[in-house]
Amino acid sequence: MITSRVICIANQKGGVGKTTTSVNLAASLAKAGRSVLLIDLDPQGNATSGLGIKRHEFNDKNIYHVLIGTKTILEAVASTSIAGLDIIVANNDLIGAEIELVDAERREYRLKDALATVSDKYQFVIIDCPPSLGLLTVNALTSANTFLVPLQCEYYALEGLSQLLNTAGLIKKRLNPSLHIEGIVLTMFDSRNNLSHQVVNEIQTHFGNKVFSSIIPRNVRLSEAPSHGKPIIDYDEKSLGAKRYKDLAEELLRRVEGVPANGGN
Ligand SMILES: Nc1ncnc2c1ncn2[C@@H]1O[C@H](COP(=O)(O)OP(=O)(O)OP(=O)(O)O)[C@@H](O)[C@H]1O
Ligand SMILES: [Mg+2]
Repeated sequence: MITSRVICIANQKGGVGKTTTSVNLAASLAKAGRSVLLIDLDPQGNATSGLGIKRHEFNDKNIYHVLIGTKTILEAVASTSIAGLDIIVANNDLIGAEIELVDAERREYRLKDALATVSDKYQFVIIDCPPSLGLLTVNALTSANTFLVPLQCEYYALEGLSQLLNTAGLIKKRLNPSLHIEGIVLTMFDSRNNLSHQVVNEIQTHFGNKVFSSIIPRNVRLSEAPSHGKPIIDYDEKSLGAKRYKDLAEELLRRVEGVPANGGN
């Protein structure tokens, strides 16, 4: 009777490391022995291709079908090359879901209702959100226990964060009262760049212990791995990127599992 911890990886800003974090956190959690379901909720389907899965093989069973209700999660699930990690594929069809669901019943709860059917199967569900705050991200935040925000270590890192936090606040009020922030993950940190250090200091000052101490460096191996269809841990286990995502998974596990009940918020 596992009850999944559902973590939504969200930031409406594009290119901040949502997919890289989703794929590599999910893979690292699976390597740590947890059962993990990765939901690709972005029509770009980058998490899908990043794990070497051919989207066209799932043209009739992907997250679009789950959201419109013609397939269950178990009917749509695909296994990956990593033991313990399953995925629900996304492709371009998902663009249509935002429009098709406009008049649908329980349109914000589609993903939550679908996930309820597998809560005894996966310890973690990681949702890779698209770079927008539309109905797809609303579904993700409504179904999640927590949301994790990747922030790129650059000058405009905080831009848009208040909008994301406002949206999460509204969803907590109206749709998902127990939603809370899992934390902020700093990504693409460049130790040679003074600005990177300044951004880290500023965000740590603002958000304190909400900021994960595992900071993800800018690492070329991390950007190469998706084109080989592998998470970093299988592409180059010794790279700094692989180590830091492993650290992040361990830190998350300590926060989630290593504290007394109710102590983790
Ligand atoms: N730590 C890193 N080091 C080097 N390159 C990175 C790192 N993280 C991400 N990248 C690269 O930066 C680009 C954007 O990353 P990613 O796709 O994870 O962002 P995203 O937030 O999911 O983007 P989108 O908003 O388009 O979905 C990708 O090409 C990715 O390979
Ligand atoms: Mg992405």
